Amino acid sequence: MGDRFKDKVVFITGACSGIGLATARRFIDEGARVLAADIQDDAGAAFAAQFGPAWAYRRCDVTQPEQIRQAIDAAAATFGGLDIVFNNAGAGGHRGGIEELTLEGWDATMALLLRSVAAGTMYALPHLKARGGGAIVNTASISALAAGYAPVAYSTAKAAVLHFSKVAAADLARHRIRVNAVVPGFIATSIFGSGFGLDREASARMAATLTEKGGSLQPAGRTGQPEDIAEAVLYLAGDAAGFVTGTHILVDGGMTIGTRASWDPAASRPVQEALGLTPEALAAMAQAAAKSVP
Ligand SMILES: NC(=O)c1ccc[n+]([C@@H]2O[C@H](COP(=O)([O-])OP(=O)(O)OC[C@H]3O[C@@H](n4cnc5c(N)ncnc54)[C@H](O)[C@@H]3O)[C@@H](O)[C@H]2O)c1
Repeated sequence: MGDRFKDKVVFITGACSGIGLATARRFIDEGARVLAADIQDDAGAAFAAQFGPAWAYRRCDVTQPEQIRQAIDAAAATFGGLDIVFNNAGAGGHRGGIEELTLEGWDATMALLLRSVAAGTMYALPHLKARGGGAIVNTASISALAAGYAPVAYSTAKAAVLHFSKVAAADLARHRIRVNAVVPGFIATSIFGSGFGLDREASARMAATLTEKGGSLQPAGRTGQPEDIAEAVLYLAGDAAGFVTGTHILVDGGMTIGTRASWDPAASRPVQEALGLTPEALAAMAQAAAKSVP
């Protein structure tokens, strides 16, 4: 479809589903070659048939740093170098609040969502330096910005991904390596179903239901799609963002702009009811107030 990323080599974790898959597809559309790192071997093989030689799959559990190192080395060996890294793989992590938290759950969540990003950056560095520079994009989350969107361990790990992206950007600028994050809002992917232990088919069905029913959760009026995030990742990874580093792009359909009450009168109804303010009383007060304005 285009050649924005012609001859570029991109390493993507979590590339067999959702945001990672949509991003891999867009990079390939734009001429790139993608090393897809994931733990879904059957999907990895199926996409190889679909995408052809621009897609190479490598099994890589991102909780195992050595597997990340080997997968990144394989990307460079397979395609002759490395230009772009998208540290994206993830899942819900430990689901509980602080009362239910276990240290094992905490450590496992950090290994999956945070250490994986650090390892992906560390192990990519020699390859990116060999190319004279490159771009790294990390997937954070709106749960990095405020409480209430995800469990405590997940939210904390994602906040650290945002900060890591800034610190790494400052550190690696001397090598002409840019580091940024993308901050998805509520995106219809399998992550919600898999977090509840559903199998892949059931998780995909749940994502479709979220697309259909989840629109009212954000001012934009529709549920976010993996392609919405992919576009932001391509921007951050590409030449158009050559002076952009150490920051993030929020892609959330307005979910974090403010409270739902800013656009949905029903959201403040419980408080109004507690104050004895019926919709009729509120309308009368608004009318009286309007008359008193000169
Ligand atoms: N969907 C959302 O609403 C949302 C919002 C904010 C952030 N995110 C983040 O986006 C990223 C992608 O998630 P998604 O929504 O596309 O979900 P998804 O479930 O569709 O895709 C996640 C991919 O990561 C892979 N994966 C999981 N554990 C792995 C491991 N240990 N090693 C290697 N691969 C592994 C899965 O196999 C899958 O292919 C995650 O980091 C997630 O936390 C998602």
